Amino acid sequence: MEFLHSITLSLTSLLLMFAVPFGYFAYHTKYWYRPDGLKRFDFILAVMAAVLGTLILVKFATTTQSRDWDTLRLHLLHLAPLILTLLIISQGRGSSFGGRAAKATGGGDKKDYADYKPVPLNREIEKLGWNDLIIDQSLKEELSSVMTLLKDPKTARKYGIEAPKGILLNGPPGTGKTTIAKVIANTAGMSFFVLKMDEVVSKWVGESEKNLTKLFHAANKNSPAVIFIDEVDSIGKSRSGGGQQWAENLLNHLLQLVDGVVKAEGLYIIAATNRADLVDDALKRAGRLNKVIEIPLPGYEARKRLFELYLAKLSLQPGLNIDELAYATDGKSPADIKEICNQAGLNAFKRESGGKRRDYVVTAYDLETALNEFVSPA
Ligand SMILES: Nc1ncnc2c1ncn2[C@@H]1O[C@H](COP(=O)(O)OP(=O)(O)OP(=O)(O)O)[C@@H](O)[C@H]1O
Ligand SMILES: [Mg+2]
Repeated sequence: MEFLHSITLSLTSLLLMFAVPFGYFAYHTKYWYRPDGLKRFDFILAVMAAVLGTLILVKFATTTQSRDWDTLRLHLLHLAPLILTLLIISQGRGSSFGGRAAKATGGGDKKDYADYKPVPLNREIEKLGWNDLIIDQSLKEELSSVMTLLKDPKTARKYGIEAPKGILLNGPPGTGKTTIAKVIANTAGMSFFVLKMDEVVSKWVGESEKNLTKLFHAANKNSPAVIFIDEVDSIGKSRSGGGQQWAENLLNHLLQLVDGVVKAEGLYIIAATNRADLVDDALKRAGRLNKVIEIPLPGYEARKRLFELYLAKLSLQPGLNIDELAYATDGKSPADIKEICNQAGLNAFKRESGGKRRDYVVTAYDLETALNEFVSPA
């Protein structure tokens, strides 16, 4: 109590008190991309405001006898910035009150947001390596050099290089964009997170953004991590294209998060699209996903290697001509070729199911049928 009496409240202390709500904005601008940090700071600030508020109330109660109304009014005014602080925190991004309040009013419908829990898909990628991918040697070298930097950002910094923060893979469907991202994550020993639009987008205002933040947050916790953004054009569509408001908000939020990744160490973004021209320029500008890597359809030699790769898993009739297969699949993607080989295996299974004995052999006929079905489906 003695201590309370020694404090005198004045206009100056009132002004100082306004530093408390401003504190909120100060760390929010600095740490907005780290919701865990914000939550902690918000909590500390809320406790601070509550303690200060209690002290002022006690002081107010002990001085009410004096009936000096000016002083009493000044005491009450000191509560204003503290109440303001608590109000801002309860509405803010790091707030845990906001979520609870929303749940209470939103009932079961809020589930889609509350249930979104991004998890690393490390299990899915753990067996993948460069040997599973047939890509151009120069492309492989380019990706490998990105990975070397990724694994060792400190060395990169010693050379004065900024470790790259993200790439955009552009190519037709089935050319291995997703697989490349997985292989990079696995061989660099990083966790793998996928941003799936249908999981993130919610009909609730602002919740898609929260989901995005959750994803980046989870990746940060599991860093080093790769965040793979598939079909990035669906979120990063050029704003000039007259996109919808929600998409624009989400894009802006994504841009901010990507900038956060630039600051954070151990996070890397790989985005993929079939239409790089539709991806918003802001996302492609320097410092973000400025490196666009083209993933073309495989040429003749690559198709041959793809057949070799996927037919190696089957026991083939000797003397099969791979050159012909590669020749006949001009314009087909690696995924198509994988499918043809798989279908050939199925054909063999069906064919041998009719007979008495199984040889488990895929014949030229099985492959030809698979190819014909694929090239000109009935
Ligand atoms: N270059 C490649 N070498 C070997 N296999 C490949 C290659 N590209 C694709 N595949 C195989 O094809 C399948 C589909 O590939 P993936 O999903 O990576 O393609 P994508 O480019 O991401 O396609 P989309 O644009 O439709 O998302 C995978 O099972 C993968 O193993
Ligand atoms: Mg893909």
